[in-house]
Amino acid sequence: SVIRVTDREGKRHELEAVEGWRVMEILRDYRVGIEGICGGGLDCASCHVVVAKEWADRLHPPREDELDKLDELPVIEPTSRLSCQILWTDDLDGLELTIPDEV
Ligand code: FES
Repeated sequence: SVIRVTDREGKRHELEAVEGWRVMEILRDYRVGIEGICGGGLDCASCHVVVAKEWADRLHPPREDELDKLDELPVIEPTSRLSCQILWTDDLDGLELTIPDEV
């Protein structure tokens, strides 16, 4: 299954994703601009992604602690997520994400 990612330069990537991995880990390993500094501990928000609108409802909704962390970012979109909180399953095949500018 694949994740389609638009990076900060506007370049599109199609990444092979592995079930059971967090989306942050996949983006980090492909070096498309996500660092995942805290390793998924909801502490850094460096894994911020914007999910394509048509996909937003197909993900499990964010937990309260993810929303709280997102709120600390200066700029977010309605479909912003922290990618360390999205566990990859093959039914997400084709998921579209944009990596937002660092602020
Ligand atoms: Fe730090 Fe997601 S990797 S909050």
